[in-house]
Amino acid sequence: MDSFGLFILLMLQCFQWTAAHAAEDITWTYKGLVGQTEWSEYFPECGGSSQSPVDVVTTQTKYDPSLIPLNPLGYDQHGNKPFILSNNGHTVVIELPEWMGIGGLPWLFTAVQLHLHWGSGGPGHGGSEHTINGQSANAELHVVHYNSELYPNMSTALTKRDGLAVLGILIVTGEETNPGFNSILNYLSRIRHANQKVHIPAFDVKSLLPKDLGRYYRYNGSLTTPPCYQSVIWSLFHERVQISKAQLLRMETLLYSSKSEEPDRMLLQDNYRATQPLNHRVVFASFTAESGQELSSGEVTAIVIGVMCGCVGLAVIVRFIVKTIRFFTILHNETVAVNSSTSSWDVLHNNRPAPMPRVKDPEKAKEIKQDTALNSASAGEKKEEPSSSPQTEP
Ligand SMILES: *[C@@H]1O[C@H](CO)[C@@H](O)[C@H](O)[C@H]1NC(C)=O
Ligand SMILES: *[C@@H]1O[C@H](CO)[C@@H](O)[C@H](O)[C@H]1NC(C)=O
Repeated sequence: MDSFGLFILLMLQCFQWTAAHAAEDITWTYKGLVGQTEWSEYFPECGGSSQSPVDVVTTQTKYDPSLIPLNPLGYDQHGNKPFILSNNGHTVVIELPEWMGIGGLPWLFTAVQLHLHWGSGGPGHGGSEHTINGQSANAELHVVHYNSELYPNMSTALTKRDGLAVLGILIVTGEETNPGFNSILNYLSRIRHANQKVHIPAFDVKSLLPKDLGRYYRYNGSLTTPPCYQSVIWSLFHERVQISKAQLLRMETLLYSSKSEEPDRMLLQDNYRATQPLNHRVVFASFTAESGQELSSGEVTAIVIGVMCGCVGLAVIVRFIVKTIRFFTILHNETVAVNSSTSSWDVLHNNRPAPMPRVKDPEKAKEIKQDTALNSASAGEKKEEPSSSPQTEP
């Protein structure tokens, strides 16, 4: 450790007793002197046993059928009042109006802000905070809400268990540009330095979320930045959202963590925390592996129609077989009656159904029995098969 570091540490030791909130003024970073491995020295809760993010091991999640789909409230009602977008030196933040909230949790939660975490684009580099089965995504969006049913405001809720609800959305790159994310990314060049703010046109925050809000992971965790309060009910969506590589590149390269007046520009990159031990926590899932293949209403319709067509087809085939049997039975009866020793008989003999008692193949026997049943039920010619049987004996 260099002397400057030592000096800082000594200063910290001196000031620690002066004010309980002194730690809040410390400039923390992801790497370096007050990097994430050091956070707990200045922010004790960062060393707690219910920290975030975590790695979700899907085989160790527990299905909880009480986890209903999350319901964004007023996300699309921005009232045309502009949003405030800012660079706080750690991430890019949008303050959200208080009429936005989230339903589907045990209490009503009111929206506070949203922000992003990302990497630096290197191969194998992460970017997301949460991982699934050890796999990182390229970035992660967090929409932060406070429990407005139990607490009067964010600052009161911040430190309470069940005080906050954060939606976690994993972001991966694909071919297509995500227009929803451009509502943020288009303005990053105006807030390149820490502490800069800009008004941006309001937009539908729902356009940043995945389509499927019914499948998510739920666990009790913390803020992923100091002071790491363990007050967050986490909901991490199963569905990832896609942005283009160019969009990710803008997120990763446009912003500085340094202020405009600082001579050394520091790129704001790799602003994600490493995954924390679950300890004794359980990650619940709102869905099971089977319901992972759950069918949409369109697919259900397709299957119903398919099954119906199949049934009709089967009925047609059965009817054809029944008719064929009847045709040959009649033909045979007539042939026997008119001419008992023709070569055509041999052909007919090969094709005609064998009399029931002699059938060796059990499946065929069943088929014929069914046919007979159908035949007798539909036509009322009840004794046709049995009566014809004796005559077919050679
Ligand atoms: C939050 O609510 C508490 C309790 O009512 C109050 O003392 C505090 O001033 C409020 N804080 C803000 C920022 O409104
Ligand atoms: C979170 O903690 C609360 C209080 O201890 C508990 O009732 C709840 O079941 C926990 N939720 C999860 C998802 O573990």
